[in-house]
Amino acid sequence: MSSRIAEPLPIVSLQGASKRYGRERNTVHALKDVTATVSRGEFIALCGPSGSGKSTLLNLMAGIDSPTEGKVFLMNHDLSALNDLQAARLRADSVGFVFQFFNLLPVLSVFDNVYYPLMLNGRSRGAAREDVMEMIEKVGLIQHYTRRPDELSGGQQQRVAIARALVKRPALVVADEPTGNLDTRTGHEIIELLLEMNQALQTTFVISTHSPQLRDMARRVIEIEDGRLKDGHVEA
Ligand SMILES: Nc1ncnc2c1ncn2[C@@H]1O[C@H](COP(=O)(O)OP(=O)(O)OP(=O)(O)O)[C@@H](O)[C@H]1O
Ligand SMILES: [Mg+2]
Repeated sequence: MSSRIAEPLPIVSLQGASKRYGRERNTVHALKDVTATVSRGEFIALCGPSGSGKSTLLNLMAGIDSPTEGKVFLMNHDLSALNDLQAARLRADSVGFVFQFFNLLPVLSVFDNVYYPLMLNGRSRGAAREDVMEMIEKVGLIQHYTRRPDELSGGQQQRVAIARALVKRPALVVADEPTGNLDTRTGHEIIELLLEMNQALQTTFVISTHSPQLRDMARRVIEIEDGRLKDGHVEA
């Protein structure tokens, strides 16, 4: 890889982060002394066996959970130094989420599911319309924008979830097994879409997965086993 002129902007950085669930004799040490940096524009597969700490790590990166030891910096802000409101604002502005089971609102149309994060920001439907339709178009669902989630296939529902995660143009998207509930071919299409969005929008992606396909397509693989990172290797 050629040398870089400027250091890439760190999007999220963990320093000696550990996570213990429960107390005393029932403690589960889910993450152990994790130090890692994710830079702007990266596309990372987070791989490891079930129970290795992938979801826990994604939750810390996204600031929806906090470490029991160590620190997490999101967009250069030490999350432990922010109050709840400041942390919620930073998260709302900088992080989008994609889940294994899509988590769409079943009574809302495709349009309104994608509009939802903007509505929470106080944007009117009219003012948001162009941005919402643009995202729906990017994920290939323009013909279906009035449908409800139960009128779509699993892959299409995941496309809606991706549009919803991206509509605010967050710097970081964390995706927890986004292809885990899809057949291989549909999963492949979803990975292609995520890669496309990574390139088109410069969005940083960290994606937990059991999929060998995603592992092969990612530009960096972070391996986790029993709460410890095995490797933060960057593939040129
Ligand atoms: N809320 C919780 N309370 C107690 N233990 C938890 C909690 N959440 C996770 N754990 C434990 O922490 C460890 C890591 O869990 P985590 O969900 O991060 O693993 P994972 O790699 O995402 O697994 P999977 O591939 O099955 O989704 C596991 O031992 C799990 O049982
Ligand atoms: Mg998990």
